Amino acid sequence: MKETRRRAVKKPSPTKRKQSSPNAKQSATEVKKPLWAGRLAEKPEEEAFAFQASINVDKRLVFDDITGSKAHAAMLGRQGIIPKDSAAKIVRELNNIAAEIKSGKLEIDAAFEDIHSFLEATLTQRLGDAGKMVHAGRSRNDQVAVDFRLYLKREVPLLQARIAETTNTLLDTAQLHLTSTMPGYTHLQKAQPVTLGFHLTAWCAALERDISRFSGALTRLDECPLGSGALAGTTLPLDRKSVAQELGFRGASVNAMDAVADRDFALELSSACAITMVHLSRFCEDVVLWASEEFKFIDLAESWSTGSSIMPQKKNPDFAELIRGKSARVTGNLLTLLTLLKGLPYAYNKDLQEDKESLFDSMDTLSICLRMFAGMMKSAKFNLKRMKASCTGGFLEATDTAEYLVRKGLPFRQAHETAAHIVRECIEKAHKHIGALTLGELKKHSKLFEEDIFKALTPAACVKGRILPGGPAPKEVRRQIKVLRKKIQNHVR
Ligand code: ARG
Repeated sequence: MKETRRRAVKKPSPTKRKQSSPNAKQSATEVKKPLWAGRLAEKPEEEAFAFQASINVDKRLVFDDITGSKAHAAMLGRQGIIPKDSAAKIVRELNNIAAEIKSGKLEIDAAFEDIHSFLEATLTQRLGDAGKMVHAGRSRNDQVAVDFRLYLKREVPLLQARIAETTNTLLDTAQLHLTSTMPGYTHLQKAQPVTLGFHLTAWCAALERDISRFSGALTRLDECPLGSGALAGTTLPLDRKSVAQELGFRGASVNAMDAVADRDFALELSSACAITMVHLSRFCEDVVLWASEEFKFIDLAESWSTGSSIMPQKKNPDFAELIRGKSARVTGNLLTLLTLLKGLPYAYNKDLQEDKESLFDSMDTLSICLRMFAGMMKSAKFNLKRMKASCTGGFLEATDTAEYLVRKGLPFRQAHETAAHIVRECIEKAHKHIGALTLGELKKHSKLFEEDIFKALTPAACVKGRILPGGPAPKEVRRQIKVLRKKIQNHVR
């Protein structure tokens, strides 16, 4: 038992999920003195220390922690809380540390509890007493809250830009297919003719809302928690306003207890990620269906498909399936955060440490899925002939038949019933579409039918007639594409 435990400690578990931040030394063997060592006479047990440590996750915040510390230290100097020259030294050394981490000269030591401890220890090792001054009036509770927000203010716009990129790719394709008719479905049953351009634009309308959802969350998280301390502020005369300003926040947070306990911003962003992933998942479900032999609407590029180890003929839409699959983990991450917060007493509790891994994973997963989705769609070929042919059969023109009669003065309910009877007759006569009946046969259902009915029932005419705002008429979809492009441009400016 003891043996196993020792081995487990010697090899601290590397972070499971790949992270984009600077390398951390993974092979730490001894526990570094924690910031709180003064209170506890006993040294932490190694495995237990490793269990509660977060450095493998929060090392991603290293540059944000440095940014926050620089602003805090400079303010401490301005306020006369620490000597001005000590503040200047701290700022200078933090700049050096940042540069060294960027260049790879300094490695983050994973033996420390978290990124905050590592940076304070590095600073103190280099500056002595000056390094020990940086934490005056601060707690890791407000420190991590500011780091996380700074990180998200930086990273979320990149994620939004990526959604915009994917959306614009889809809009480009939509633009090419304003007149490419295809069946529109409800209940996965053929409903009314639409165009491929219209269908793709529908996806893009959802993605545009996704981008704006992230903006909403960013607006609300734009408050600086520094100066909140552990939960109840500090007696030291900090200048919260100037720190908030220097860090680029709209202002300082309103209530210290709220500032350290709040993770609404993580919830909102996790939710925005989950909703976007659910959208991608639905699009992928369309793609999987379209790629099937039964639909054959889309031909995915061979480089964006996979084969089977046993069935030689297979060309599988694995990318679409995996994006659909990954939406499960991102929605799971949202549930993790909601559950994390649900029973949490005010103010800070260590449970909150779980917030970052969850949100980082959602953002990483969404980011790669967006790229994969765009790549898959860009390289795909649409089988336009097959889509068009699928508009015949299934009586997609039945609603247009009813509306034809309404235009000629028949109340809609009657027109609906008449069209339904016509469909029944077609089925009995094994006709594939209403236009297969003669004018004489149609007139038996309603005297209102004239020769012009036949022209009105082609898929192209059905689509062209639905010109109202929001409709699938080519001219209207062209307008929709313009509107969406403009909205997207405004979001990611
Ligand atoms: N690693 C911690 C987190 O992510 C930092 C804050 C720790 N604060 C504390 N009082 N233990 O939440």
